[in-house]
Amino acid sequence: MARINDHYQKLKAGYLFPEIGRRVSQFAKQNPDKKIIRLGIGDVTQPLPLAVIEAMHKAVDDMARKETFYGYGPESGYDFLKEKIQQYDYASRGVRVELDEIFISDGSKCDTGNIQEIFDLGSRIAITDPVYPVYVDTNVMAGRTGQANDKGQYEGLTYLSCGPDDNFVPALPTAGQKMDIIYLCFPNNPTGAVATKEQLSQWVRYAKESDAIILFDAAYEAFISDPAIPHSIYEIEGAREVAIEFRSYSKTAGFTGTRAAFTVVPRELTAANSKGDRVALNPLWNRRHSTKFNGVSYPVQRAAEAVYSDAGRRQVQELIAYYMNNARVIREGLTALGIRHWGGVNAPYVWLQTPNGLDSWAFFDRLLQQANVVGTPGSGFGAAGEGFFRLSAFGDAAQVVEAMERIRKNLS
Ligand code: MLT
Repeated sequence: MARINDHYQKLKAGYLFPEIGRRVSQFAKQNPDKKIIRLGIGDVTQPLPLAVIEAMHKAVDDMARKETFYGYGPESGYDFLKEKIQQYDYASRGVRVELDEIFISDGSKCDTGNIQEIFDLGSRIAITDPVYPVYVDTNVMAGRTGQANDKGQYEGLTYLSCGPDDNFVPALPTAGQKMDIIYLCFPNNPTGAVATKEQLSQWVRYAKESDAIILFDAAYEAFISDPAIPHSIYEIEGAREVAIEFRSYSKTAGFTGTRAAFTVVPRELTAANSKGDRVALNPLWNRRHSTKFNGVSYPVQRAAEAVYSDAGRRQVQELIAYYMNNARVIREGLTALGIRHWGGVNAPYVWLQTPNGLDSWAFFDRLLQQANVVGTPGSGFGAAGEGFFRLSAFGDAAQVVEAMERIRKNLS
């Protein structure tokens, strides 16, 4: 008898964004005349930068000629792209990263979801709450948790709750909470919070002292405007010995539909095997990556390379400025309504406290039905997100203005 992986049945019914999609489609079907504005999922709305498009066109032409055609590439990516990452993402910030420490992939969702495979099933996992749901669900699927309680928190995971009092940067685990793996995301999805150099240094120190590994999701680093905020965890001394970093072109350069990202696994990084011997994680991830993945397509890697050209960098900055202007419009609209909010300064998400103590889904339904605006209920990101709501700044600028006007009319 074929049997399923029972752990899948522990998962909450739907992944957050498909569930939002389902509710929105139902509303749209019942109200075909309503013009819905979507500020829910963080999906970009502006086209790829011209430099990227030109590079992709040229790469497609390469594929059309025998002399310049590419078949399978290196699973971990072409050096032409890794060299740009090394230079522009790291060396420019005083960080050393070697080419064989970089693994090009088709997304940070996949990488942050798959990385847990190289760790023991008995690992003690810490996640922040609220959190990007992928970190939780992939550990549930792998069998690292028991059932979820009424609040949706899984037995066996350690939730590091955060909120307004700590500006959504959680405190370190307590002395009794001995962790092996810690997922951190800064700038944060969903709250838009950033961690200072001092805060990240504390985490790195904690990881060293506890022999723990930090899985650092930096998919939104390009949106940091404060020069004092680190873009990479490797800007912190000693982080190469304790951290894996995830980066993405999805939000930075509009690649949500094009798919390219990368993960850095430093050579120094080790963890123990069951005999207590130290094992390097870089060859382990390389083994996993090259067994289960055949590389990002050549035209897409050429497109990603173009992000680093002079024109590409300028155009990416324009894109980021466009979205961060949306974030400003959202923040100012909320301020005018007296709604408490965070984020939207160094991150493309604005996190707000629902008015009148409404729960997150009730506020979602109200905004959808009365203002025809879609956001993301905070409770979808964890128990500590209840009573909060996320608005994405990735919308079309005119629509964001209209959405805030509709919210103003609805809530004032
Ligand atoms: C989000 O809206 O949280 C993101 O788009 C999800 C993702 O990047 O997978």
